[in-house]
Amino acid sequence: MSVEVRREGTVAFVTLSNPPVNAIGLEVRKGLSEALDWVNGQNGLSRVILSGSERAFAAGADAREFDADPVAPHLPDIVARIDACETPWVAAISGVALGGGCELALACRYRIASPSAKIGLPEVTLGVVPGAGGTQRLPRLVGLKAALDLVATGRPVSANRAEEIGLIHGQADDPVMLAQHLDLGTIALEVAISTLPKPTANSDAVEGARALAERKMPNQIAPKRAIDLIAASATMTLEDGMAQEREAFLALRRGDQAHALRHIFFAERGARAPDRIKGAEQPLDHVAVVGGGTMGAGIAYALLNAGLTVTLLETDAEGVTRANENVEKIVAASLKRRLISDADAQSHRAKFLATTDYGAAAKATLAIEAAFESMEVKKTIFGMLQTHLPANAILATNTSYLDVNEIAACVQDPSRVVGFHFFAPAHIMKLLEIVEGSQSSDAALATGFALAKRLRKIPVLSGVCDGFIGNRILARYREAADTVLLEGAAPWEVDEAMVEFGYAMGPYEAQDLSGLDIAHANRRRQDATRDPNRRYIPIADRMVELGKLGKKTGAGWYRYPGGAGKVEDPIVADLAIEEAHLAKVERREFTAEEIRERLLIAMINEAADILDEGIAASAADIDLVTVFGYGFPRWRGGLLAYADTLGASKILEKLKSFAQEDPLVWTPSPSVIKCAQEGSSFAQLFGKGT
Ligand code: 3HC
Repeated sequence: MSVEVRREGTVAFVTLSNPPVNAIGLEVRKGLSEALDWVNGQNGLSRVILSGSERAFAAGADAREFDADPVAPHLPDIVARIDACETPWVAAISGVALGGGCELALACRYRIASPSAKIGLPEVTLGVVPGAGGTQRLPRLVGLKAALDLVATGRPVSANRAEEIGLIHGQADDPVMLAQHLDLGTIALEVAISTLPKPTANSDAVEGARALAERKMPNQIAPKRAIDLIAASATMTLEDGMAQEREAFLALRRGDQAHALRHIFFAERGARAPDRIKGAEQPLDHVAVVGGGTMGAGIAYALLNAGLTVTLLETDAEGVTRANENVEKIVAASLKRRLISDADAQSHRAKFLATTDYGAAAKATLAIEAAFESMEVKKTIFGMLQTHLPANAILATNTSYLDVNEIAACVQDPSRVVGFHFFAPAHIMKLLEIVEGSQSSDAALATGFALAKRLRKIPVLSGVCDGFIGNRILARYREAADTVLLEGAAPWEVDEAMVEFGYAMGPYEAQDLSGLDIAHANRRRQDATRDPNRRYIPIADRMVELGKLGKKTGAGWYRYPGGAGKVEDPIVADLAIEEAHLAKVERREFTAEEIRERLLIAMINEAADILDEGIAASAADIDLVTVFGYGFPRWRGGLLAYADTLGASKILEKLKSFAQEDPLVWTPSPSVIKCAQEGSSFAQLFGKGT
């Protein structure tokens, strides 16, 4: 039974029971409908208490149903019946009350939440607007401004904040108990939200919300539509507002953006340890981090934030000072932004030690080496870790490119070694690539997944190859960008084309931020193994020779006069013309669409090769990597979800036409050919578990 009902004296209890999070699917809607019939058939009831579980009052409508047509009974009708019920309903909220869950609570006459509850209308993050009265009842209850804050961002609020804005009436550790003993007169003072007057119009708040949505969620339709609906609540009857809301909800849920956002939502939930390694993890309490630079300090902070003890190992006193300063900088910034409390900061400091003494990490069950990207440096460190840490401690290397198998070969038991590819800043970026060496043990891999869970990161398993999943795709993206640069486009044209597609910034501005020297060092490492038949474009090397390393040197692909905003640099355009002349390439104009096509098809083809070689386990994993590590627009669902909207036949056709210019670079991946031949999508051919 998805909904349970019972009666004690004059109190009726309606309890949602659809684990794990009480998603409101058809069975729950039917159960609620039957519960309403039952309530209406009872005599002498003083109240109906609606509750869920400790974890969730209700997480909202069941998004797994959104691909199909809606089936009655519909949630807005249930909400309307609760709202109109003669016996007052009281929402007793523990855990989350999100989306349709929040809308059910808004149908109740009275709302009590536990102090740890989270309440909100996150529909826009799934590409839809609230569809059961959220945009109409909430502003009537809390006013336009507070409703816009909640709905347009999709961010839930705490119980305290909910009480402050009047969304709930009060808090209790046991909301059901309080609801049961609440004085009937207190409930009777409240009226149904549907009978409240329209909220006062507030054009400043509406314009502010529009500007924020444009900045934070550009290109996304749902937030703008939600803002319009909330604004309309000030002028429309509840009935008309609800009708418009329902129409918008149903239209959006069928749309591409909602489809893509649902895909990435479920891909994120599905990012977990494969069954074959479940339960093999090492206990995590004390972790050693080697190297206190930007990456090491970010990792150390993330570990501290997850309650772990951290020993940070450095080579000399100077390194120790730098490590302490770097970690302290993050602690201070987090304090300033109120992300942590003073007590958290004290606890972090107490659990952190930077030292040159490897012996201080003798009890660590995991070490994460985050030193300079040099095979020699890493091998030396692994030798030291092997000497000082327990024999069964997992040894992880944080590397973006280096061969995990070669690093593993330098310790006696290579099964202890695994690769972790964190993304900078490591305490903020959500992606963690876990790199499986040819001998990595189940314990090593499972510890990586357990760590990701502890750090609230999204783990994606990758096989060993140059650049793993993400940087390998990035290399092709940059190569395709450099090719159009050589052949006629300017860096800012390339950037603009990709921003129009939905990236926050294009590949050249992104390089200016990360620094051109890093990719340069990597290219030098690859010199020995690069295919001599593949065209090499040296424009970025010329930039490094000229000292144009990016924002940090005041100039890269753009100039940054006075450290301020970017300015186009004609010298860079001249460099491309010069190199084209030397390479005897005839330059031509590229439209934004042509630029986009080349960069995207290049990445898709590489991703298809990565699947074909078994480096990534599924198309969804590639989507997660591109969205959470490389800024691919989330509302497009990730690289291969986007590819599936194009279709493999079209991709193949494009590859064949580009191959006429350069057959080596544009060789179609066997996976693209297979998808095209079978008429299947990447998601179908490379679903999880294949
Ligand atoms: N629909 C379907 N399944 C859902 C779901 C939803 N709304 N919310 C969560 N789930 C599933 C997850 O996929 C996962 O399934 P799995 O175990 O098979 O992988 C399971 O519930 C547990 O979820 P999490 O792993 O995410 O558990 P957490 O404890 O980390 O987080 C949560 C719980 C905060 C509820 C989080 O899942 C969440 O944010 N869910 C989405 C909430 C949301 O967006 N609601 C609005 C839905 S649209 C709507 O309500 C329309 C209405 O206005 C008409």
